[in-house]
Amino acid sequence: MAASVTGAGYDDAAQRRIPGYSSLARLAISLVAGFPSLAAAGAPLLVVGCGTGAELSEARRQRPDWMLTAVDPAAEMVAEAKARLAQAASAVSWIEGPAQSVPGESCFGGAIAVLVLQELADDGSKLDFLAALARLLQPGAPLVLVDLMGGGSGLNSAIEQQFQEALLRFQRSSELPLPGVDEVPLHPIGEARRSALLAAAGFSDPIRFYQALGVEGVLVQRRQ
Ligand SMILES: C[S@@+](CC[C@H](N)C(=O)[O-])C[C@H]1O[C@@H](n2cnc3c(N)ncnc32)[C@H](O)[C@@H]1O
Repeated sequence: MAASVTGAGYDDAAQRRIPGYSSLARLAISLVAGFPSLAAAGAPLLVVGCGTGAELSEARRQRPDWMLTAVDPAAEMVAEAKARLAQAASAVSWIEGPAQSVPGESCFGGAIAVLVLQELADDGSKLDFLAALARLLQPGAPLVLVDLMGGGSGLNSAIEQQFQEALLRFQRSSELPLPGVDEVPLHPIGEARRSALLAAAGFSDPIRFYQALGVEGVLVQRRQ
């Protein structure tokens, strides 16, 4: 999903293009909410690449006591998220910039990054991003990642090809144009590369909790 589709347009496009998108925020928040590091009232959650605020508003719905920090470099997305949160926006700490620029160490009890890692090139940027999240998380804290995957998912290649083609059919049948050249290019990676980057950044092996064709959600924990 490309970030140049913004606001109400972004939410509609995400729902049409990402199979299962309308459940992702609820799934992600439900998952991290069970961890001890987020159990206490007022526990700190980092929402990375907050976009138009889907995960923030779900976090407020499920755990209005959490201290939320939202980070996103796109000013127009942050503005949309603030508008969506309405009065609750003042209860969120907003950081307009990339996650790599957020200062601090071990300050968050959990983090969520839905459809963000896929936007970063695998030229050191993905590793820098994941290393920043590991630095910001408390030992043992959960991180939810959801991204479009590339080749090497572990499925046999004929099935993988079927999945990629089915995703294109799913997107075409949405009656929206396919992502245009003006949109943020995506850099999907395979399962082995994702595991290697996560290990190098200081995270545990990923456990898949969601898959819809080539879009996968995994849970990892910052190593102790
Ligand atoms: C496809 S949108 C996903 C938004 C939201 N998480 C959702 O699921 O609808 C990706 C978002 O990640 C943001 N982003 C890109 N690089 C980032 C980085 N290094 N740190 C934090 N956010 C980033 C983009 O600006 C964009 O708003």
